[in-house]
Amino acid sequence: MIRLPGRRSRPRVYVTRQLPGDALDRLREQAQVDIWGDDLPPPRDELLAALAEAEGLICLLTDNIDAGLLQEAPNLRAISTMAVGYDHIDIEAATANGVLVTHTPGVLTETTADFTFALLLSAARRLPEGERAVREGRWSSWSPSFLLGRDVHGATLGIVGLGEIGLAVARRARGFDMRVLYHSRTRKPAAEEELGCVYVGFDELLDESDFVSVHLPLTPETRHLFGDAAFERMKTTAIFVNTARGAVVDEAALMRALESQAIAGAAVDVAEVEPLPRHDPLLRLPNLLATPHIASASVATRSRMAEMAVDNLLSALAGETPAHCVNPQIIDT
Ligand code: NAP
Ligand code: GLV
Repeated sequence: MIRLPGRRSRPRVYVTRQLPGDALDRLREQAQVDIWGDDLPPPRDELLAALAEAEGLICLLTDNIDAGLLQEAPNLRAISTMAVGYDHIDIEAATANGVLVTHTPGVLTETTADFTFALLLSAARRLPEGERAVREGRWSSWSPSFLLGRDVHGATLGIVGLGEIGLAVARRARGFDMRVLYHSRTRKPAAEEELGCVYVGFDELLDESDFVSVHLPLTPETRHLFGDAAFERMKTTAIFVNTARGAVVDEAALMRALESQAIAGAAVDVAEVEPLPRHDPLLRLPNLLATPHIASASVATRSRMAEMAVDNLLSALAGETPAHCVNPQIIDT
């Protein structure tokens, strides 16, 4: 069941944050737009009040769009999130309520892969520790054994989830002469042939890799996939990189692995609970590099994501099938 367009020519749309670029100007030409003006996400009461009226919603990954909210959104026809990951939206409830959900795949792939490599290189070569040492006056002399890291060139990279971003990371790894192993739900013959990626089981990937980089969506199957057992399998010299979603990792297990040096280090752009609290014990560990969920944060890419989010919403509200729809089946039914 899909909700049909109402009679109003300019649908009412709620946007949960100011967006970069000009995309919202275009949205305003075709819709009555209300924007939450704060830098922090709108509280639930505000969302409830907005969704009591709105036909369209543009949200971010920080907005938890759950079944309870959707029940209180009688006019809502489409949700467009400005993210590729849509685990913050209850897709089943949206589908049951006839609400189309769209996301922004592809436009952020290369930027996110660049950042993944930045994390991988930084953790391997202990860049944050070096930077802190310079600022804190601990650069006393060139020394043969000061801040020794791990070579990236020639090492083995294990990619878990060989989708758009995983593939873009594999392309970059070729430039570093890395051997690339991958584990994904389905085999990728083209990546095997063109990029030399080698398909292996999850355990074999953990056993063999010098770097493990995660590019999975967060789903019930992938939640806490990286727990004690996974970290124990990894090499003690291995570095773990997560730019996917925090909850793919059991953070308590990651903490144990880093503290006991079961693995050499980790670089994470995402956390189970975001923002990662300032006094979180993970942040006391020198072998953890943490960034504030910025892998897609380039000027050009964030503008493209905003444009795509607006295009998706306008297309859904016009009664078309948006290009990047997560639950297109409701259109057919
Ligand atoms: P994608 O193209 O859909 O790739 C995801 C890959 O994971 C697919 O290849 C998929 O299956 C595989 N997969 C899914 N479930 C699996 C499972 N249970 N076991 C093994 N493989 C599984 O998505 P993407 O564009 O690469 O993005 C991946 C994720 O990165 C997003 O969902 C988002 O959460 C995260 N992300 C984070 C940032 C950031 O700012 N940190 C930016 C962008 C994206 P197949 O093998 O069947 O293809
Ligand atoms: C960012 O995390 C995204 O899913 O786009």
